[in-house]
Amino acid sequence: VNSPNRNLISLHEDAKKLYHHILINTEMGEQALEYLKNRGLSDDTIEHYQLGFAPQQKILEEFFKQKKISYDLLRKSGLFIEDADGNLKDRFFDRIMFPITDTNGSVVAFSGRVFDQNNQAKYLNSPETEIFNKRKVLFNFSNAKDEIRKQHSVILFEGFMDVISAFQSNVKNGIASMGTSLTKEQIYQIKRHTKNLYICYDGDIPGQNAIDRALKLLQGSQLDLGVIKMPKGIDPDEYRKQYGEDKFFNYVDSAKESPVSFEMQYLKLNRNLDNEKDLTSYISDVLKVVAKMSKPIEREIYLNQLTEQFNIDKNILIKQLDEIDAFEP
Ligand code: UTP
Ligand code: MN
Ligand code: MN
Ligand code: MN
Ligand code: MN
Repeated sequence: VNSPNRNLISLHEDAKKLYHHILINTEMGEQALEYLKNRGLSDDTIEHYQLGFAPQQKILEEFFKQKKISYDLLRKSGLFIEDADGNLKDRFFDRIMFPITDTNGSVVAFSGRVFDQNNQAKYLNSPETEIFNKRKVLFNFSNAKDEIRKQHSVILFEGFMDVISAFQSNVKNGIASMGTSLTKEQIYQIKRHTKNLYICYDGDIPGQNAIDRALKLLQGSQLDLGVIKMPKGIDPDEYRKQYGEDKFFNYVDSAKESPVSFEMQYLKLNRNLDNEKDLTSYISDVLKVVAKMSKPIEREIYLNQLTEQFNIDKNILIKQLDEIDAFEP
C-alpha cells in the first residue's frame, strides 16, 4: 500500500471509530441505536460490523481539522462535499453508517442509511475514490472469506442488512455487491475462493427479476450456481426478524435449488397458464431452457414433466426442441 492510500484508509478508520462511538456512547446516537435494536440486531452484531451514526449536526470536518488533517486529503476522501467556495461539508449526516471494507478488511468507504421516514434515498454510498472502486468491492468479503473457503460456497445477498442478518444467524459466508449487479472483477474475486455461488435475493418481483438477470450474467463464469428463493414478499433480513435466527439458518440450507428449477418457476410469473396464448409462450420458453441442458437425462425429465403437466404429445415437444437446437446449436 502506498502512503497516500494509507492516509486515506486511516482517515476512514478514524471516521468509523467516531461514528461508532457516537452510536454507542452518546445521546446523539440514541435514536439510531434504538432503531437498530428494534430491527433485531444484537450488540455483538453492531460491534462486529462497527456500525455507526453520523448525526444531524455535521461533526466530521471539525474532527479532522482539529487533528490537522490536510485539506487535500479530506477532499480526496469522498467523505465531504465541496461547495462553490471550496468549503468541505460532511457528506453523511443523520444516517446510520455501514463501514465498507476492502479484501484486507480496511475501511475504504461507507454506506449511510436514513432511519426516520423522509424522502431521501434510503442508502447513500461513498463516491469512487483512490481507495474505493465500486466494481471491485464486495460488502463483507474480508469478513467472510475464510468461511467461504471452509464451506466451499458463498451466498450473494441483495442488501447489507441481509448479509448482517445472515451473519447473526450463523450464516457467515454471505456477501453483497454495492446495490448493483455483479461485475467481472467481483466474479473473479469470488472464483479465487470458491466455485459454488448461491444467489439469495429478496422475495419480491424486483428480487426475482434480479435473480434471473444474475443467472444470465453468471452463465459463462464457470461457477456452479444455485438459488435460495425467499418466501413471497420478504427479504432475508425480514425472514430473520419474523422467524428468528435458527429458522433462518435452516431455511437458507434447505431452500437451495438449481438455476433450472428457479427458471421454470420464474417463467410462470406474469403468465396465466389457463390462457392458451400464455401457455404456448410458456412452453416455448421452457423448451429454450431445456435446449440448453447438456445432459440427455435432464432433458428427458423436463420433457416428461411437460407432457404430463399439460397433456402434450412428447413428440411434438421434441420436434419443437429440435427446431430450437437448429437455431442455437
Ligand atoms: P432494498 O431496497 O432491498 O433495501 O435494496 P434493503 O437491503 O432491504 O434495506 P433495508 O432492509 O430497508 O435496510 C437492496 C440494496 O440496494 C442498495 C443497497 O445496497 C441495498 O442494501 N440500495 C437500495 C441503494 O444503494 N440505495 C437505495 O436507495 C436503496
Ligand atoms: Mn464498540
Ligand atoms: Mn430489494
Ligand atoms: Mn431488501
Ligand atoms: Mn431489507
